[in-house]
Amino acid sequence: MDLVDKLAQERWLTGKEFKTLLITENENLRAKLFQTAQQVALANFGNKIYIRGLIEFTNHCQRDCLYCGLRCSNKHLERYRLTNEAILSCCQAGYALGFRTFVLQGGEDRYYSDDVMCRLVAAMRTAFPDCAITLSLGERSFQSYKRLFEAGANRYLLRHETADALHYSRLHPPSYSLAARMECLYALKAIGYQVGTGFMVGSPYQLTDYFLDDLEFIKTLNPAMVGIGPFLPNKDTPFRHQKPGSLEDTIRLLAILRLMLPKALIPATTALATLHPMGRQYGILAGANVVMPNLSPLEAREKYTLYDGIVHTGAEAAESLKLLNSQLNSFGYELTVDRGDYQG
Ligand code: 5AD
Repeated sequence: MDLVDKLAQERWLTGKEFKTLLITENENLRAKLFQTAQQVALANFGNKIYIRGLIEFTNHCQRDCLYCGLRCSNKHLERYRLTNEAILSCCQAGYALGFRTFVLQGGEDRYYSDDVMCRLVAAMRTAFPDCAITLSLGERSFQSYKRLFEAGANRYLLRHETADALHYSRLHPPSYSLAARMECLYALKAIGYQVGTGFMVGSPYQLTDYFLDDLEFIKTLNPAMVGIGPFLPNKDTPFRHQKPGSLEDTIRLLAILRLMLPKALIPATTALATLHPMGRQYGILAGANVVMPNLSPLEAREKYTLYDGIVHTGAEAAESLKLLNSQLNSFGYELTVDRGDYQG
């Protein structure tokens, strides 16, 4: 039995064994990692790829994460907020295209107090009773997460970014802590959200060993969703000259995550599609089963610049689902309009 079989049987690997899977130059082992991950995804989801409509509703952010273009120190970014009416009309357009999950993603924008945010979620819940509402609004209090859940939100995305505390401190200002972030994730889970976490691959100062902490943390949290993508530099951040994360590392980690969490919803992320023209395809062939096309108004997309070169047209755009579907068909997959709740 090799390492891939061992992991596929949901047995835990040692740090050294994980590292072997991440760096091995043994072509057979590498190929087996991807094939097995793909088989596990096929066994659980068939050849269906779930779609989530991404609505980037505010690019205001009070945080100052060193890697992110939305950081408050970035004075070159033109800031915007979509009105509730604009957001609901994005949902309306998405609904007509077949979307049954809306992901409201934004910076940590103080304008969105609990009252304001709950009004928005409640309006979406009323207008789209059969849809899942996913929030991605960063760190908030337990009480705030609870109120949003009661207002009708079902899922929450909050990447831990890195599970190594020292590394975390090198990516963020000193006042932010990994412990606080993890506490948010456990709070969200306790409230009843389907929770997604994840991390960047190849962010500055990252060591291969840190991935073992990420995998360990993810195993413990046992999230419904895991999003990982390569770090990509943004010219208006202190990390402008850092090199992007690697495609190979990202897809190996995707495959490992699929084997660890057979039923998790794992997106082939926009960052992966931005890094490489075949990124989305490689991600799916490594076990990813979700794509998140962009439903935001075009003017907003241009201002939601987490990193340089972010793709938001073509197959990344919600309005070109046909194109996306035909791309998926070319390697044996197809989009599904199913809500795609976690069945773990
Ligand atoms: N490169 C890649 N991913 C990034 N994110 C933010 N900035 C970058 C970047 N420069 C990711 C973070 C965040 C998510 C919304 O986008 O992981 O959680």
